[in-house]
Amino acid sequence: MTKDIINKIFQGHKGILAADESNKTIIKRLTALSVDGSEENITKYRNTLFGTNNLNNFISGIILYKDTLEKQQINGLKVPEFLMSKNIIPGIKVDGGLENFNDSDTESYTKGLAELKENCENYYKLGARFSKWRSVFFISTENSSPTDELIEKNTDDLASYAKISQEAGLVPFIEPEILRDGEHSIEETKEVFNRVFKSLFEKLTEKDVDFESLILKTSFVVSGSMLPEDDTKIVQKETVEIFKKYIPEKMGGIVFLSGGLTPEQSFSYLHAVIEESEKEGFLIPISFSYSRALQNNAMLHWSKNTDDVITTQEVFSKDLKKASDALQ
Ligand code: 13P
Repeated sequence: MTKDIINKIFQGHKGILAADESNKTIIKRLTALSVDGSEENITKYRNTLFGTNNLNNFISGIILYKDTLEKQQINGLKVPEFLMSKNIIPGIKVDGGLENFNDSDTESYTKGLAELKENCENYYKLGARFSKWRSVFFISTENSSPTDELIEKNTDDLASYAKISQEAGLVPFIEPEILRDGEHSIEETKEVFNRVFKSLFEKLTEKDVDFESLILKTSFVVSGSMLPEDDTKIVQKETVEIFKKYIPEKMGGIVFLSGGLTPEQSFSYLHAVIEESEKEGFLIPISFSYSRALQNNAMLHWSKNTDDVITTQEVFSKDLKKASDALQ
């Protein structure tokens, strides 16, 4: 059953739309574009995206925020029913957001493990078939972040989450996001990837997580956002090197987050990584699970006239197509 979900996720040059921004995040993004972050506007915006006619040509699944899964309606249907009618798999963000770790200014862990089992069972009943848990690693040489203690905590929790999610029938997307914020070099990023992935894959093995029913959601190996843009060739080489070192061949799949890269960077790095993986004989399915890289242009357009459904959907479609083309 979960294998079928994974096959469907990666079939036919499709990827995942992350539309699971917490209320706090989506309100911040809308407000930055001078749109009131009311519940009504959030629903109207998301329904504009979900109602895009050819969505299913490019998107196999959508990660939803709990309010969208539980409460939101579109065309008289609950959102999961609407998506299923379009052959799109509903997914759900199950983590409870970030909390300061050991009173640190730079480190955070992810909340939500205590209520996770119950939530996953409930979300399955509501139609979700995959889930996502995000933890973050901020790189700062000055503060020696991420510390070994944080890596231990976050990777242990990611593995516990994966196990619980699988037991509830939801394919887990484990997302250890190594943040771009800052001025660290690509070598420093790679060093953090090595520490995080080493610990993560050890924990997954210890907790007997089924790799075949597991998806890794990862960032690209890139330098900090304050440094000039990385050469695509370096990103593809460094990223695939990390994959080959840590990811077991039986892993269900890998999807990328965009992490504040521009849509163009996100699409070209994705294409390059797939090309390099094939060249290196690394054959795990790879796709995208972007939020900002797919939504930024559409949201900007929509913010100028929130009743302009058709053109917003056209703008959105163009970026969906570019992401899908990057998989070919
Ligand atoms: P971005 O593509 O904007 O990084 O978001 C992906 C995501 O789901 C973060 O959890």
